[in-house]
Parts: sequence; C-alpha cells; structure tokens
Amino acid sequence: PEIPSHDDSEMSEVKKYVKKNKWSIIFVIITVVLLISVIGALIFMLIKNMTDGPSTDDFTIEFYGTEEKYTVDYDEAMIDEVLYLDIIKIAKYADLVISGTPDTPKITCPDNTYVRFENGMTTATVNGVRVELGGTARTAEATEESAQTCLVPYSFIQKLFSHPIEHDTPGLNMSFSDKSNHIIIGKRTAAGKPLPIGFDAKYFDNAEDFQFASLKEQYPSRQSACVKATMLVNKNNPLGENYAPQGLFSLAELNCPIVDGGDYQLVKDAAFALCDMMRDMEDAIEKNNSVLVTSAYRSYSKQKGLYAFYVNYFLEQGYTRAEAEAAVNPTAAKEGYSEHQTGLCVDFIEKGDTELTESFEKCKAFEWLRDNAHNYGFILRYSKDKEDITGYDYEPWHFRFVGIDAATIIYQDNICLEEYLAKN
Ligand code: DAL
Ligand code: ZN
Repeated sequence: PEIPSHDDSEMSEVKKYVKKNKWSIIFVIITVVLLISVIGALIFMLIKNMTDGPSTDDFTIEFYGTEEKYTVDYDEAMIDEVLYLDIIKIAKYADLVISGTPDTPKITCPDNTYVRFENGMTTATVNGVRVELGGTARTAEATEESAQTCLVPYSFIQKLFSHPIEHDTPGLNMSFSDKSNHIIIGKRTAAGKPLPIGFDAKYFDNAEDFQFASLKEQYPSRQSACVKATMLVNKNNPLGENYAPQGLFSLAELNCPIVDGGDYQLVKDAAFALCDMMRDMEDAIEKNNSVLVTSAYRSYSKQKGLYAFYVNYFLEQGYTRAEAEAAVNPTAAKEGYSEHQTGLCVDFIEKGDTELTESFEKCKAFEWLRDNAHNYGFILRYSKDKEDITGYDYEPWHFRFVGIDAATIIYQDNICLEEYLAKN
C-alpha cells in the first residue's frame, strides 16, 4: 500500500487547525470586516458633517400658527454670506404698524417704539438711536404682484424681535437651520396676553457707540469731535477762537431737508438725530408743512461776519458802536460765544421764507418740534420765559441737540439748559 504522504512541516499543523475551525474563522473574519465597515462609515459621516458647508437649498420661511409660508432663492437671500429676510413680512405677522415711504420704511410697535430703515444704509434707527445692521438695507416698492419689501440681515431681525431672550418676555421666537435652510418664526406671548413687542436699542451691542461718549464711526474714515452733548455755550461760557469740532457731517449728504445750496454741517450724533427728527416730522405734518434747515455749524469767522453785519446795520442808522452792539446782543452772539460754533444746533425756516422771525411759532412744524424734539435729543434752546437766564431773546427756530435724556428732562420740567446743568 502506498504510504500516505507525510507532511511534518510547521504548516501542516496550521492547515489542520484551519480545517478543524473553518466556520469559526469565517465567522470572525466576517464580524471584523463588518465592524470595520460600520466604524469607517461612521467616521466618514462625522467628517463629512464637519466639513460640509451649509445647505445651498432655497430658504423656506414659515410663520408658526398660520398657513403662511414662503420661499426665497438661495442667491437672493444670501449675499456676501449674510442671510437677508424681508422684515416687512415679519412685522405684518406680528401685527405691527408699517409706515414711512417705500425707501424709508418704519415699523412701529403698540408701545410707540419703532425702527426705521433706509434703502442702501448699513444702519437702522431704533427709537432715535442708530444701530448697525450688519449688512445693507434694501427696499423695494410694492407692485401689483408683490407687497413692499425691506431686506435686512436675519441676525438683526432676530435681535430686534427676540430680545431680551427670556421666555416669559413677549417677542418672536426664530429658529433657523443652515442644514435645511428652514426658518420658523413664532410668537412668544406672555401667558394669554396679546403680543406687545417693543423695540429697544439697548439690546444692540453697538448702540452705545452712537451715543456721544464714543468715537466709533458710522463712516470709518471720518470722525466727529468727542464733545459732550450738554456742553454749555453762552455769554458766560465762550468757546473762543480756536474751538472747531472735527469731522462734521454734511446734512446734504445725509439727505436732510435744507435750504437749497447751503453747506450745512453738524457733529455726528446731532446730524443723525436731526435727520431722523425731520423725517418723522415730514411724516407727521406732511411734507409741504415741514421746514428746512437754514443754519447749522458756524465757524468762529463766520459768526464774526454775521455779528459785524448786524452791528453795521445799526451803525448805518446812526447808532454808536456801543449802542449798536447793545441792540444786537439779545439776538446774535459775538464770535466765540455762539452755540452754533459747537455743531450741535440748527435754525429752521419755513419754506419760501427768508427771515427768522417770531412768527415761526405759528407754523405746524414749530408745534410739532416743540412737542416732539426732545424724543430726538433736541430742545427749544431760547424759550420765551427763560430770556433772563439764557441771555437771548425768544428764538422759536433755534433747536439745540443735548441728547435724549437731558432733552426729556428739560422738556418735562420746563427748564432751560442752564437750569438743567445747575442741577445735574
Ligand atoms: N442767535 C444765536 C443766539 C446765536 O447767534 O448763536
Ligand atoms: Zn440759531
């Protein structure tokens, strides 16, 4: 008989082992392969999720509790990596009042707090305070097919409507997923109450920067002098020859209503507050009843010319210099003594008028300014009953920026700036 081949190599033991445990080995191999695939897939998904950019699907905006829903093309909503939404639609959902012009829409809450936008501007005005939008407002006029729109950054809208983020504080809740580009907006009401959304500039980190204390600029390349809004300039507190505020803002450039051709300037906060005030005045009393700025910042030398012009008028009438100056002093400041040199005050004039007279107090604009200017930080500086303290005759046309807080106290307590500063 043939002798079976004899294999006593080391491999023969292995072969025998494999033969004997074939199924166990196959099972182990399959299990290991499966485990590696699952772990691999998990790692792949994790990395993909981490490196995946946000979705580029169109955006869907849903208003919770209504059937309303709309979609916006990705490219229309996302500009320079900033998501823009139509704040008008959201304001309507919150039942807020929409007014203003198509280019300067205004949204007002039941408590009269408001926000105003302006086409092409990178700031909005919240209750008279400028706050950064984080983008550029873009408005479009209503057409037959569409309503008026105002596109502003989502992050701004969220901040405006949902602050403070306390759950029992009325506002709007907004949720946004950049994986699905789905936005859900819902009303957050105090138990069983309507939705009294109020706007407050204080919830914007940068709002402070638009108050007087700060130099942060609306236009990065330009600066306004860091002057105190309540600085006192009168017959006892002159500014002198060398005082001139830096970085004045042109009212024409800010689209503020001015007498044609004039080069009118104010320091930043006063300039922006004035533009807001005049726009609201135009809304309130209708444009044709509104007034124009006829004087704003006046340099030392400009005031010198003006004062000399008035004195000359009396000299020509045969007055002595002392008599002429005495006649002018209650109405015009000597150079270095005028508040106009601060860049914080303006003179208004009725359209078509050429002279500043007391009859200004009869116009609708004066009535509106008298009752509302403090909400924008302005005061009637030379009032009828304070002539002894201010040192000047009544000037219904001259309004001075002092900031909203001081203006409100001065208005409510019926005091003048001198009296306010004596107490504060
Ligand atoms: N008319 C004001 C007082 C001025 O000249 O500054
Ligand atoms: Zn004046």
